[in-house]
Amino acid sequence: MKVTVIGSGNMGSAFVKQLRAAGHTVRVAGRDAAKAAALAAQHAGVESVALDGAAQGADAIVLATPYEAAADALRAAGDITNKVVIDITNPLTADYMGLTVGYSTSAAEEIARAVPQVEVVKGFNTLFAQVLADGADFGDGKKATVFLASDSERAKQAARALAESMGFKVTDAGGLKNARYLEPLAGLNIYLGYGAGLGTTIAPTWITKS
Ligand SMILES: NC(=O)c1ccc[n+]([C@@H]2O[C@H](COP(=O)([O-])OP(=O)(O)OC[C@H]3O[C@@H](n4cnc5c(N)ncnc54)[C@H](OP(=O)(O)O)[C@@H]3O)[C@@H](O)[C@H]2O)c1
Repeated sequence: MKVTVIGSGNMGSAFVKQLRAAGHTVRVAGRDAAKAAALAAQHAGVESVALDGAAQGADAIVLATPYEAAADALRAAGDITNKVVIDITNPLTADYMGLTVGYSTSAAEEIARAVPQVEVVKGFNTLFAQVLADGADFGDGKKATVFLASDSERAKQAARALAESMGFKVTDAGGLKNARYLEPLAGLNIYLGYGAGLGTTIAPTWITKS
């Protein structure tokens, strides 16, 4: 798949690494072109591109910017009509104890509302960057889970294909509205990781009794 990653920070870097390792055609763009170029240079076959036009030819776009920058970054990426956009953002308050958008909407819904020409899927937001960078394998046959919420079956299938290609287990979390659950779930994960001291090699998953 051809994937454009917007953002070259912790999550952008982890996506570039794992998507490339999974054999995808990866391009990375950010507001700091030199930083994106430096990231691309670390991975053979990865190209850095200007943000302006970064959406061209992409089968999927990973939005790896802060939530507050996400809609503008998307709009800056050129013709984004009908593009699959994977929203990984967590709109956390400064103290990490709440969501800046509240609980009667979600970052994913707000991005979809602000940029209605794209097909948004929420996912990967419950994984720490370290987990994404290190890989899905947790040992003993355990895999980290990617939860996906979208109103677009096409977007969900694209995100599922990418997640599975990187080795993750996928749980279909329903429509985009359920990002209202996935974003607080990430908040809990962050509390457990930092507040409760479990560290950043944890990830939420769901188990079924056999
Ligand atoms: N870190 C995690 O463990 C984690 C886990 C799950 C989800 N997330 C979510 O993933 C997103 C990225 O997190 P991160 O930890 O990777 O943050 P980060 O390290 O701060 O990286 C953010 C990236 O976004 C870029 N950016 C900021 N404003 C931009 C704009 N207006 N246009 C284009 N690019 C812009 C930054 O560029 P500069 O380099 O120029 O500043 C940087 O490359 C956030 O929404 C976060 O909530 C993070």
